[in-house]
Amino acid sequence: MKIRKAVFPVAGLGTRVLPATKAMPKEMLTIVDRPLIQYVVDEAREAGIEHFIFVTGRNKGVIEDHFDKMFELDENLKSRNKSKEIEELARFQPGAGETSFTRQQSPLGLGHAVWCARELVGNEPFAVVLPDELVLNSPGCLKQMIDIANGLDERSNLVAVEEVPMELTHQYGICGIGERHPTHSTAFTIDGMVEKPPRGTSPSNLSITGRYILQPEIFKILETQERGAGGEIQLTDGMIGLAKTQQFYGVEFEGERHDCGSKPGFLRANIAYGLQRPDLRDGLRKEMLRYLGQ
Ligand code: G1P
Repeated sequence: MKIRKAVFPVAGLGTRVLPATKAMPKEMLTIVDRPLIQYVVDEAREAGIEHFIFVTGRNKGVIEDHFDKMFELDENLKSRNKSKEIEELARFQPGAGETSFTRQQSPLGLGHAVWCARELVGNEPFAVVLPDELVLNSPGCLKQMIDIANGLDERSNLVAVEEVPMELTHQYGICGIGERHPTHSTAFTIDGMVEKPPRGTSPSNLSITGRYILQPEIFKILETQERGAGGEIQLTDGMIGLAKTQQFYGVEFEGERHDCGSKPGFLRANIAYGLQRPDLRDGLRKEMLRYLGQ
């Protein structure tokens, strides 16, 4: 199964992190020294993705700018011989024609956002990556999933999953565990899914993390998908429809998941990613200890 394209739904308003997101897209919030969206695009590139599709909304133009070349900046850095910075920017720069942008015109939910990418994806399996969830690991979460997908039936769908405390299950898509895959020990068939089950009704504590590999048949289903939890067109509901005819697998990925769309998660991610960086680790630790008076 060759996965060439990834869809990044980036139209959300980021109301959980206001006022930071009043005029700035939440995907541009900075973890250490780069915006959230940069981390997930890098994760997708590492996984072999060749085309990056952004489903944007109003006020999100700066995301497109971030992935463009910036002539004045490049010239300025060149004239000052800032080779380290030039290399750093070049490493993150998508090539010409590797990005596409389309708009979700109304905030109708994740399922609707993914459906908006149907023409850009076409008739091939694709990845969906939610930028407010970061997974700290090497290899990244999507690479782990694609490695597993390569050994599965061509028409398979995969979702990344992680256990969460039972009292938090109402915040997530939840899935039930079927059978373990005989050779991929971290993968299992999914036995039922539900989006944001009301408290006390969740079938398990296995939450869907923001990484998916889906077959293009999902688009036909999303086209007529009715509103579900929260009055939104839910991707999970579309996947429940697709699971009637195609196999879904859960993948228990390796790595630390950070929910950067919440204030505590965002702050924790900054510390976790800062402590991972060889160039910043010692300085950050020293500052934190000094601040805490130790
Ligand atoms: C979305 C999905 C949900 C998933 C979650 C992961 O919800 O609908 O199934 O568990 O992302 O972050 P949202 O966080 O957009 O409400």
